[in-house]
Order: sequence, then structure tokens, then C-alpha cells
Amino acid sequence: MMEKFVLATHNANKLKEMSAILSQYGVQVVSPGEVGITVDVEETGTTFAENAMLKARAICDAAGLPAIADDSGLCVDALNGGPGVYSARYGGEELDDKGRYTLLLRSMRGQTTRAAHFACAICCAFPNGDTLTAEGTCGGTIAFAPMGENGFGYDPVFFVPEKAKTFAQLTAEEKAEISHRGRALAEFAEKLGTYLKK
Ligand code: IMP
Repeated sequence: MMEKFVLATHNANKLKEMSAILSQYGVQVVSPGEVGITVDVEETGTTFAENAMLKARAICDAAGLPAIADDSGLCVDALNGGPGVYSARYGGEELDDKGRYTLLLRSMRGQTTRAAHFACAICCAFPNGDTLTAEGTCGGTIAFAPMGENGFGYDPVFFVPEKAKTFAQLTAEEKAEISHRGRALAEFAEKLGTYLKK
């Protein structure tokens, strides 16, 4: 029998990506809606892992099933690690992705130190109190102007020197190979595999 895990997302792409990876461990990933719960968790943590764990624990407690949640963002050296855990809310609720990266480029005007990294934490909370945490990062620099059409969020302004392209100029597969999320997912799959064998 497939073991059911709730993934704390309404994003169909994240659900599909996680299902593909975890099905090899006999794990079936379902959305909160599919198990009849809606949980709105305030992201009050100061780290990605704290926020991901807050979401995973809340969903696990509400559903009585193991729950997986992630949190991610962009950390810019010249902005003291910001926008960091505030990446989705940078500049206020009224901005869209383009508004946020345009604001970022403006904040970086004249700045020669442009190093940055994306970070992602994936956490799993189990009904017996056990937890798993996996993290991944990807280093790069903030470009001087947006480039590329793929991806989402800050992708057009995140330049990866080893590829000489921004995230938005990579295909989804190329991005997943090196991205913070791809790396966190690979580590998470490995940790979950080990945990489930015990
Ligand atoms: P969340 O983890 O879904 O809360 O996303 C946090 C925010 O970080 C997103 O809204 C994006 O603005 C940004 N972000 C996280 N991962 C990426 C990425 O891979 N590319 C571009 N932006 C990202």
C-alpha cells in the first residue's frame, strides 16, 4: 500500500514534481484539499527551515498524516542576506514578480558587490513527532538587467556564472539540476528513503 503524505502546497507543479520523486519510495503525495483540510500558516520563522517546519507541523497535526512543506528565497550579500525569508513579500503585497525584481535591481544600482544565493528548505513532520529537514543552495550574482523568459520570481535577474545564463534562460530541467530546490529535493528524497527503511 502506498503511504500517503500531504504536501503543503496548492501549486500543481510542485505536487507533480514531488510525486514523481517520492513515488519510488511507495509514497503518494496529496494536496491539503484532497484530505479535506485548509491550513493557513503564518510564516513567522527567521529561517527557511523554521518556516518550512511550521507549515509541515501544522498540516501534519491537522491531517493526522505525515506532511511535507518547503520554503525558499533569494539572499543578497549587499542587502545583508535580504530579501531572504521575505522574498515573496519584498516591496509589499501589491507587487508582482516583475515588480519585485525591478525593485531589487533598483536597490542594487551602483552596487559592485552582487553575490547572492537562492536557498530552499524542505521539511517533513510525522504524526509521531519525528521530523526530517533537507536544505539546498545555489550561488550566483544579481544581473544588471533582466534576461530570459522561463521560470518565475527572481529568475530573470539571478545570473549563474557556471552556466553564463540567468535562471530564466535555462530550461526547467537545466535549472532543476543546479537549483536550490533541486538540491534540497535530492537530499530530501535520500533522507526520506533512509527514514522509511528503518
Ligand atoms: P515560497 O518558497 O514559495 O514561499 O517562495 C518564496 C519566494 O522566493 C518566491 O515567491 C520567489 O519570489 C522566490 N523564489 C524562490 N525560489 C525561486 C526560484 O527558483 N526562482 C525565482 N524566485 C524564487
